[in-house]
Amino acid sequence: MKIVSVVGTRPQLIKAAALQPALRARHHEVFVDTGQHWDDAMAGSFFAELGLAKPDHSLRAGGGSHAEQTAAMLTGLERILIAERPDAVLVYGDTNSTLAGALVAAKLGIPVAHVEAGLRSFDRRMPEELNRVVADHLATWLFAPTRTAVKNLATEGITRGVDLVGDLMQDLASKVSAEVRDAGVLEGIGARLGVALAPGGYILATVHRQENREPAAMAAWAGILAAAASAGRPVILALHPGTRVAMGEAGISCGPDVVIVEPQGYRTSLALQLHAAAVLTDSGGVQREAAWLGVPCLVLRESTEWAEAVQGSAGRMVIVGLDGPKAAAELARLAPVGDGARLARERVASLNLRPVGAAEAIVAALEVSAR
Ligand code: UD1
Ligand code: UDP
Repeated sequence: MKIVSVVGTRPQLIKAAALQPALRARHHEVFVDTGQHWDDAMAGSFFAELGLAKPDHSLRAGGGSHAEQTAAMLTGLERILIAERPDAVLVYGDTNSTLAGALVAAKLGIPVAHVEAGLRSFDRRMPEELNRVVADHLATWLFAPTRTAVKNLATEGITRGVDLVGDLMQDLASKVSAEVRDAGVLEGIGARLGVALAPGGYILATVHRQENREPAAMAAWAGILAAAASAGRPVILALHPGTRVAMGEAGISCGPDVVIVEPQGYRTSLALQLHAAAVLTDSGGVQREAAWLGVPCLVLRESTEWAEAVQGSAGRMVIVGLDGPKAAAELARLAPVGDGARLARERVASLNLRPVGAAEAIVAALEVSAR
């Protein structure tokens, strides 16, 4: 089959890296980057790090409002799909690039394959929820990562074309986490970031959800990070550029023990998670990775579309939203200061993350044409 796959954001590049080798072994992939993310630290560097193919087409559709960027993607992708005439269009996740790819393809009568179908936070204030609902209802192939996702689709009347394939990101995480298992990797990362990093001796944070870029929300999570940080156990905040801009505009800062650094590469992100005392995040991807790595994780959101990650965490992952006292209590329970080095060492020693074969399952299911 000739398949146009559409990426645009950091997590989509990571998912594409997990699928691309298997996809290219059996199909002709035309790789399209919408340019939704464009900084080297958010996009460019991931091509080299993850061995991704050079895109066949690159749009420069990043920035602006939702309507502006989606409109630029729609017109750019329509031109490409008319010229390429693929058998299918494959989209990942729930971003504006996902929405645009699915919508243009469906309107041109080209079947859509949706990777990470069926996830629901049941919060329609989230742009991602709107994007994933639309993509699912337009898709011919629905690749669900979890049983809950399959159930969610059935609840919306979608059963045809649904395959439970597992989570692509687990396949990549299992490979790369094994490579960064030796805590010696922290030395080089710490030197580059200008902060001393010891196993269990720091907390990793990432924040980028739209709702967490509102001034009141930023003040609340900045307070949570500041309270979690101390001179002996800093918080490393790998900051999304959009959040950095929003913090600057609202004059939000996090205090001296929160070390704000640029977005990191994938390997570094996994290494920092694996050896941390805890992870504080609103990211869907980081949430799952923390769960797979067994790292205590506080979710800085009110809801999650990754219910299984929370349920399967044996209490190590907790949704705290922006509730400061709850965050402090859970952190004290899950990652008591003073015990960090031992807990991190034990966790890393028992790490046994296995691939789930999601890429192979997706490629095999794509060959079932009677949809
Ligand atoms: C997008 C996705 C979100 C996903 C996230 C992954 C949507 C609606 N949201 O959110 O689901 O979790 O990507 O990281 O699609 N910016 C830069 N340089 C970049 C990229 C972004 O400066 O390379 C800044 C710009 O100010 C931009 C802002 O970040 O306007 C927001 O970027 P955008 O892609 O619209 O949304 P994300 O918050 O990244
Ligand atoms: N990630 C990264 N560098 C960072 C922060 C995150 O490589 O500085 C990785 C992280 O390990 C995960 C993915 O990016 O694999 C998650 O993407 P993001 O948080 O941007 O989006 P979401 O998953 O919330 O859509």
